[in-house]
Amino acid sequence: MFVPKIDFLTLNDIPGVLRINSGISWTWPEDVIKSDLSNDSNSELTYIGAFATTTEAPLLGYAVLGRDRRVGQLMALIVDKNFQHRGIGTQLLIAVSDCAVYMNFKRLRLRVRKSNQAAINLYSRMSFISEKVRRGYYSNGEDAIVMSAKLPLMPRS
Ligand SMILES: CC(C)(COP(=O)(O)OP(=O)(O)OC[C@H]1O[C@@H](n2cnc3c(N)ncnc32)[C@H](O)[C@@H]1OP(=O)(O)O)[C@@H](O)C(=O)NCCC(=O)NCCS
Repeated sequence: MFVPKIDFLTLNDIPGVLRINSGISWTWPEDVIKSDLSNDSNSELTYIGAFATTTEAPLLGYAVLGRDRRVGQLMALIVDKNFQHRGIGTQLLIAVSDCAVYMNFKRLRLRVRKSNQAAINLYSRMSFISEKVRRGYYSNGEDAIVMSAKLPLMPRS
């Protein structure tokens, strides 16, 4: 278990975001992230980071919270591959939950690839349940599982 510092991302964190995104095919392009993080952005997305104070590359992972009408949407959750399985994804989800509650959302929803067992395990552990399957949702034809959970998120006992 690793306890990171949790904070909102700023433009200064873009190199860290790009480093974490490298090797993952479905991440957003740099200009989209830059535009979201700009001070004058109208973006409704909230970027939350997990930081280490002791490593050379301090950003260890990040999550993006958005909205679909009255429901919070987890748009992204990625942890640096060298720091996975140390509880960082869980702590980012808890931070997303706190923000979503603050924004008055009652539920949090997400889409996950059917083959992404690590993420499905994490979400199930945080009490997400499968709502439906969207057949062929991803560009490679893979199905998406739509999952949602009541807020605040509570780890399943
Ligand atoms: C999914 C992801 C965010 C998990 O982050 P993480 O920091 O490793 O997660 P945690 O350490 O908090 O793990 C919590 C639980 O998730 C599950 N989990 C995490 N990694 C797993 C793996 N490789 N295999 C199986 N289950 C896994 C386990 O249930 C784990 O609980 P445990 O430690 O008691 O076994 C990370 O693997 C990742 O960044 N993957 C690439 C990007 C991605 O797929 N994002 C999700 C898109 S929907």
